[in-house]
Amino acid sequence: MGKGDTSWFVHDRFGMFIHWGLYSMPGRHEWIRSREMISDENYQVYFDLFNPDLFRPAEWARAAREAGMKYFVITTKHHEGFCLWDSKYTDYKATNTPAGRDLLREVVDAFRAEGLRVGFYYSLLDWHHPDFTIDRFHPLRGLPPEEIAKRNAGCDMKRYAEYMRNQVTELLTGYGKVDIIWFDFSYPDNGGKGRDDWESENLFELVHRLQPGIVVDNRLDLPGSGDIVTPEQYMPDRGLVDENGKPVVWEGCQTFSGSWGYHRDEASWKSPRMCIEMLINHVSRGGNLLMNVGPTSRGYLDRRAMDRLGAYAEWMKYNSRSIYGCGLASEEFPAPTDCRYTYNPETNRLYLHCFAWPFRHVNLEGLGGKLRYAQLLADGSEIRFHVGAGDHMNSGTPENGVTLELPVVLPEQGTAVPVIELFLK
Ligand code: GLC
Repeated sequence: MGKGDTSWFVHDRFGMFIHWGLYSMPGRHEWIRSREMISDENYQVYFDLFNPDLFRPAEWARAAREAGMKYFVITTKHHEGFCLWDSKYTDYKATNTPAGRDLLREVVDAFRAEGLRVGFYYSLLDWHHPDFTIDRFHPLRGLPPEEIAKRNAGCDMKRYAEYMRNQVTELLTGYGKVDIIWFDFSYPDNGGKGRDDWESENLFELVHRLQPGIVVDNRLDLPGSGDIVTPEQYMPDRGLVDENGKPVVWEGCQTFSGSWGYHRDEASWKSPRMCIEMLINHVSRGGNLLMNVGPTSRGYLDRRAMDRLGAYAEWMKYNSRSIYGCGLASEEFPAPTDCRYTYNPETNRLYLHCFAWPFRHVNLEGLGGKLRYAQLLADGSEIRFHVGAGDHMNSGTPENGVTLELPVVLPEQGTAVPVIELFLK
């Protein structure tokens, strides 16, 4: 693994991803320029008219903090090449749109003010830069082959790599401490681009020189550079390990609805409950969750996103103790049906998350003689436990186990997914 400091990262567990750029105007996915193979001329209208008049980053930051998120990662530049900050090295930036200012700075200030750590996503791809050759993802890939060859002959990827270093230098020197840099992404196969094109080694060295200890993701195509493994749009079903079987630090990045950028017409929004379950699933498998929002082109988070952030806020208000500082539980404690464990090694507490609420009893294997006290985390009310068959139970407590006695009806607050806090001896 890399050389970043991930100690805070594995404690905090929950962050906000923000995808915001010109693509929020068409509102049909952040890859729209590539998917619809839009020419420079036709994409220009979004730049000319980008005017987020309802942009209040303090509102994003408050929603993130209330949701229990402890850090954020924002697209400073996505594949389209548009920069949210006032970069000296390009005109293709927010300051030259009707927005007329450095939007990145305002986001960073607002999130810092709410106590969140700062992360920058920086796209290795750039479909606007004149030195970036046309490849299989490029919006201009449909041009006649002779035209592509001619254009590519005029490109200088070395100059582009230098452009990236210049921009990354701006980002890592102009905004105070940056805790994470998230490079995206490499595709060296089939005439794509990878470490030789990005000059990943130089980039990596630069990043650590400017911000020692910064956490770097694993998409530079540079083995050994990544501090974190980054499963995207799928959820690992167990803890992740490296080739030697050693656990790795990982962070799943996920969307509310499928697209990363604002997508007006998407119908695949995950339910608020599913979003909560995803957070628990990530942490119970030893990972972080970086949950994405795609603000509208006017600059606000729409109701659909706010509803889900609100569900996190309501749940985390009561249950964050089962998330922060927690990770995989020991294999001696297999989770019962429909349940997930997380474990905090510092406090020696185990957290039982019940995705379905069992009727009156749940058996916990391995906890016999090891459990000191149990309570419903949401209201801190005692959960009694016993060993043996109890009153009228068919199958008694498993060997080495305990049986919890559950209320039939749960209190209302904080129990969208109920959590039982188990104080181990
Ligand atoms: C993919 C996509 C991109 C998104 C990223 C987030 O690599 O290219 O649109 O920003 O995943 O992980």
